[in-house]
Amino acid sequence: MAAVVKENQADTVHSETYETLMQVSWNFDYQGQVAKLDDLYNRAKENQWNAAELAWDTPIDPSNPIIAVEHSQYGKMPFFQKLSETQQQTFMAHSTAQMLSQFLHGEQGALLTAATVAHGVPDMKAKYYAATQTIDEARHVEAYDRYVEKIAIHYPMVPWLKELIDATLGTNNFCKVMIGMNMIVEGLALGAFNNMYKQTEEPLLKSITFNVMRDESRHVSFGHVYLAPTVAALHPDEREDLAQFAFDAVQILVKGQSAGTDAGFLKVLEVSGIDPQDFMAGMQEAAELGITRELPPGQIHSLNDLMMPALVRAGLVTPRTKALFEGIGVPVNADLTVLEAMEDGKSDLNVLNAEKAVY
Ligand SMILES: [Fe+2]
Ligand SMILES: [Fe+2]
Repeated sequence: MAAVVKENQADTVHSETYETLMQVSWNFDYQGQVAKLDDLYNRAKENQWNAAELAWDTPIDPSNPIIAVEHSQYGKMPFFQKLSETQQQTFMAHSTAQMLSQFLHGEQGALLTAATVAHGVPDMKAKYYAATQTIDEARHVEAYDRYVEKIAIHYPMVPWLKELIDATLGTNNFCKVMIGMNMIVEGLALGAFNNMYKQTEEPLLKSITFNVMRDESRHVSFGHVYLAPTVAALHPDEREDLAQFAFDAVQILVKGQSAGTDAGFLKVLEVSGIDPQDFMAGMQEAAELGITRELPPGQIHSLNDLMMPALVRAGLVTPRTKALFEGIGVPVNADLTVLEAMEDGKSDLNVLNAEKAVY
């Protein structure tokens, strides 16, 4: 990336600008080469929804939290059970708010990458589809921004998520943008949205998350429908280059998630009156008891269940990078069961509220 970074900071406005080397592609063959994109584009048009029509006047009652302690992994951990009720509630409110801020910032990243794919991808129908993804992502930013404003607790973007999306935007190759966003970041997001949807009983957030998930399932499908045949037609050296990018991007995520607490999460602990060292020791104890390994029923492990199968299915894990993944402790899971269940048909449910949902 040609990193000419310009940061503009005022009291309440913060923006950052840098230059990239992104390719731009015109195409005067308007037919497109991947038939399945027509179906995906049609479904994207038919399933547009207006975030403004959700029930924004829903009161959010602090005594009926967004995620109840008993629906959280933390509620099962011995150190957490020893905290006072106020500490537990404050922690749940702020850790949930911190995650919602990541949804918001991540959606902005997706808005930027989707527009970039519309520029760079040579296939006309893929340009059409990327344009629908761009409006989807704008709507997701709108919805999460409005929700974060409503709960009035803001957290900054975690550094590793920013680094991962910047690495994706900083490439000059639309395939790498699609690997970084449509396979890796959106795999992460689809798992996180699914888990939020299962955990929360707050009706407005449930309806936002449900509708966003329908869109995201299409975005993940786009990564596969377009990239799989494109990757299959590449010279082995080019495929190896993409496979290396996929590994590097996953490594940013794995390192970031295992690096411990970032400044935002330290703030969550501080306002909850939890000592960071006690928290880490409590998490270690929970890991040793097997509590963090077992996901509650219906919850998804994004890396194992969505990202790795998507990369394998598209031919983006080579024998060389398989060894690299295993070297950093990431099993190369090729089981498509969860990924396929999250894709395709789910996005056809043209409803605006979770009561009609069959997720
Ligand atoms: Fe999105
Ligand atoms: Fe998306």
